[in-house]
Amino acid sequence: MKVFIAGGRGRVGSPLADKLEARGIEVASGGLDDGIDALSGEGLAEALVGVDTIVNVLNTPRFDAAGAISFFEESTTNLNAEGERAGVRRHVLLSIVGVGQGDASDIGYYLGKVAQERAARSGSIPATIIRATQFQSYIPILIDQHTVDGKVLAPRSFIQPVELDEVIELLTEAATTLEPGSEIEIAGPDRFYHDDLFRATLADRGDDREVVTVDAQGAPDAMVPRGAHRVGTVRYPVPGIPLA
Ligand SMILES: NC(=O)c1ccc[n+]([C@@H]2O[C@H](COP(=O)([O-])OP(=O)(O)OC[C@H]3O[C@@H](n4cnc5c(N)ncnc54)[C@H](OP(=O)(O)O)[C@@H]3O)[C@@H](O)[C@H]2O)c1
Repeated sequence: MKVFIAGGRGRVGSPLADKLEARGIEVASGGLDDGIDALSGEGLAEALVGVDTIVNVLNTPRFDAAGAISFFEESTTNLNAEGERAGVRRHVLLSIVGVGQGDASDIGYYLGKVAQERAARSGSIPATIIRATQFQSYIPILIDQHTVDGKVLAPRSFIQPVELDEVIELLTEAATTLEPGSEIEIAGPDRFYHDDLFRATLADRGDDREVVTVDAQGAPDAMVPRGAHRVGTVRYPVPGIPLA
């Protein structure tokens, strides 16, 4: 079995490659550093020869709607088109819990993920969609993204961060044994409010940035699972945060 990881040297792609290889699965990494550009299509046809499964963990720094939508839609459409020509049998996509809910935040990046899911489903290769909540190790980066003029603007909405290794395990199953076409959500064991989580995380790191609570964009529960989902077992590493 051969798995092509689009974005194979990223935060998710790199440990996923290690886990698959440890199970004896052949892996081809498909990132810019590997000479493959999923956006232009350069190098894809050659790289997909003999591949059974594509795992799509591409990412873009574009957070504006136009940039995020065009990146995710075009790269995913290219993967599907070249994958079909090469006889690929599964396309596994990592998305985010809540994107596409009618009452979710409409920030540009999330609209890009919605477009990516739509593009993945539109080809003839069955798309398995794994939706994860924010990774626990990503929370400090999320705090930086919410910082404006030195203050952290934190919505009073829910967040249920998951340990990255547990997402990698689910992606491994999706690439190998799960029924192609499945849709599964995964979240951590505990649900917090963003502002409480951000304050506790900053205090734990000795960071004195002020956290200012702001209104939620969209419904407060839009970005946590509302239905059946896999629950991670690893607790957030900072203890004592009030549960939401
Ligand atoms: N962070 C979270 O909490 C979270 C939660 C749920 C879902 N996700 C999703 O997880 C996915 C992966 O995120 P990540 O943090 O692993 O991203 P990342 O570390 O930024 O990695 C992205 C990868 O995409 C590759 N890439 C970018 N543009 C490319 C192009 N045109 N052609 C080929 N490869 C390209 C990069 O290749 P190079 O290294 O060669 O540049 C890099 O390996 C994202 O889709 C994100 O939405 C993230």
